[in-house]
Amino acid sequence: MPDEYGAGPDIAMKPVISIRDVVKTYASGFQALKHINLEIDKGEIFALLGPNGAGKTTLINIICGIVTSSSGTVTADGHDTVRDYRAARSKIGLVPQELSTDAFETVWATVSFSRGLFGRAPNPAFIERLLRELSLWDKRNDKIMTLSGGMKRRVMIAKALSHEPEILFLDEPTAGVDVELRRDMWSLVRGLRDTGVTIILTTHYIEEAEEMADRIGVINKGTLVLVEEKARLMKKLGKKQLTLQLQEPLSGIPAELHSWGLELKADGHDLVYTVDSSNSIDISSLLKRMSELSIVVKDLHMHQSTLEDIFVKLVSEPA
Ligand SMILES: Nc1ncnc2c1ncn2[C@@H]1O[C@H](COP(=O)(O)OP(=O)(O)OP(=O)(O)O)[C@@H](O)[C@H]1O
Ligand SMILES: [Mg+2]
Repeated sequence: MPDEYGAGPDIAMKPVISIRDVVKTYASGFQALKHINLEIDKGEIFALLGPNGAGKTTLINIICGIVTSSSGTVTADGHDTVRDYRAARSKIGLVPQELSTDAFETVWATVSFSRGLFGRAPNPAFIERLLRELSLWDKRNDKIMTLSGGMKRRVMIAKALSHEPEILFLDEPTAGVDVELRRDMWSLVRGLRDTGVTIILTTHYIEEAEEMADRIGVINKGTLVLVEEKARLMKKLGKKQLTLQLQEPLSGIPAELHSWGLELKADGHDLVYTVDSSNSIDISSLLKRMSELSIVVKDLHMHQSTLEDIFVKLVSEPA
């Protein structure tokens, strides 16, 4: 049936970044990326997770035009990142994983210069606002080499935002950053998203992805093994386990309890019930049934799997 309201795919929002069949083989012959396909929507926070060496930085550097892909195409806001490099790059801000700053420059000079590199007219009021938001205003006349590691990281963020990009890449933005700065960065990132900026971040802190991301991609050994909305991922792969610790161990699950689908663990000391998206549990009737069978429960606890459990399971499976 035709859609009379015109909500067809032709008017669907175009992705702000589109990665098609990207392969990267380094000069050493090592294949760091194997046929990556991914689209990033405008205004989302996308978290890219993966173990060391998975290919996260390689992928980001390809999108930002710092590394060239061996094959495949990437567009940023409709511009091919190779053929139309300048236009694509002007839309992108990058906070690289490795801190590299102009040690002898002042904070103000380096951030203002960065804006100029992208052909943007000077805008001291904007730079002031940026430095104030990043708590760098008091340090504006200090040389970068005199700053602490966390402050240097803020300078990197200020540089990345200096030309008012629509897309921001944060490659391990909170590695080695204290709890307070991490929280500041999270609220900064949320604030940017609220103004329509699309954010792609990599992190080793699963809790950061859990806290921030709208969507999660997991990359392992150069392959995207999963891309999913965070909420749906947690619902689909997340599970709850109820463990009943027994006073006396059982040698087997009594026939009367077979229909519950329980597992016996810890040498018969634990009865475990797993709740996933396909079932639910009526704990009171299970406990009632057990007491009728004179099985005494000493203790019980519930475990809800986290994104971390899901992640560990995904990357431990052979890719
Ligand atoms: N210039 C290079 N030459 C050869 N191999 C490289 C080069 N850069 C990266 N690699 C290899 O490509 C793979 C992916 O590296 P990449 O830096 O993209 O991983 P990552 O996911 O960002 O890891 P991390 O979490 O440690 O930052 C690694 O095996 C790495 O050794
Ligand atoms: Mg990296």
